[in-house]
Amino acid sequence: RHHIISLANFLPAEYNMVLQTAASFQEVLSRRVKKVPTLQGQVVANLFFEPSTRTRNSFELAAKRLSADTLNFAPATSSLTKGETILDTAKTYLAMGTNIMVIRHREAGVPQAIADEMDRLESRVSVLNAGDGQHEHPSQALLDLFTICSVLDPKQPKIELLQNKKVTIVGDILHSRVARSNIWSLTAAGAEVHLAGPPTLLPKLFADWIPENQEDSPITERKLFLHWDVEPALKDADFVMTLRLQRERMTQHLLPSLREYHQKYGITRTRLKLCKSGVRVLHPGPVNRGVEISSDLMDDPEFSLISQQVTSGVAIRMALLYLIGGGKS
Ligand code: CP
Repeated sequence: RHHIISLANFLPAEYNMVLQTAASFQEVLSRRVKKVPTLQGQVVANLFFEPSTRTRNSFELAAKRLSADTLNFAPATSSLTKGETILDTAKTYLAMGTNIMVIRHREAGVPQAIADEMDRLESRVSVLNAGDGQHEHPSQALLDLFTICSVLDPKQPKIELLQNKKVTIVGDILHSRVARSNIWSLTAAGAEVHLAGPPTLLPKLFADWIPENQEDSPITERKLFLHWDVEPALKDADFVMTLRLQRERMTQHLLPSLREYHQKYGITRTRLKLCKSGVRVLHPGPVNRGVEISSDLMDDPEFSLISQQVTSGVAIRMALLYLIGGGKS
């Protein structure tokens, strides 16, 4: 695989290769000297046209741990402000010798458009989607998968561990690229995925939004359920993933009152009692504290995997850069 834009067509063997590679980098990251020479001489450019804390910094750290040279693009201080187009910006980075472009943009399709342009130019540049509009956020879903599988078996994280586990995703599904990528990965792993949220924040034409069995999808059967009420969705869940209300992507009529949202859909200790004992809670961040999840629960290591997700992000992004950068250890 030359570019990673979407998880829709990811094969089970590819998920396991990413998980196993991330596990070996996690071991490297636990050593005193955390740097390996794998991508020495390669250039990784972080082209983030939309704000980010976790994804941008963990891609940068991952690239540095692999000894690549890194370039960081900041739209506000770039020649984008003088009218340079996105494709011309990408071509400028290509001309500087970039090998891997990590792209985030508020419009769906931008990473694919840059990947197509790089292929048209017969460059060998790889493109990694770091979140495009409401479409996909593959590296986030992979780090979520790695976090969950590492809870189930810290030594050998693999997707088979998720067979018949119940994972409930709660919140603003409609605007969430994280939800969409997670639906692909979790259902490919054989998990039962339950989505719950206010009707205004669930996709209307669900079959169009995420086809149950996409024609070229390698997975023949995906277990996916939709709920307007959170309680049935939480019943006997093994993992709960709560999502940020993406207010920046909402038109006024979709915006729920935050207090009402927390009352109806917020993840609290009381609601977690509906889940299986040992349930763990994830959130991709950034969190609206006290809205999607109660503040004390967010900080409780007995339940919350939020910090572990951020830590996993570095190992997963090292794995992705290594695998598409063709690094040799
Ligand atoms: N989860 C995530 O994408 O966070 P950032 O926007 O901080 O990168």
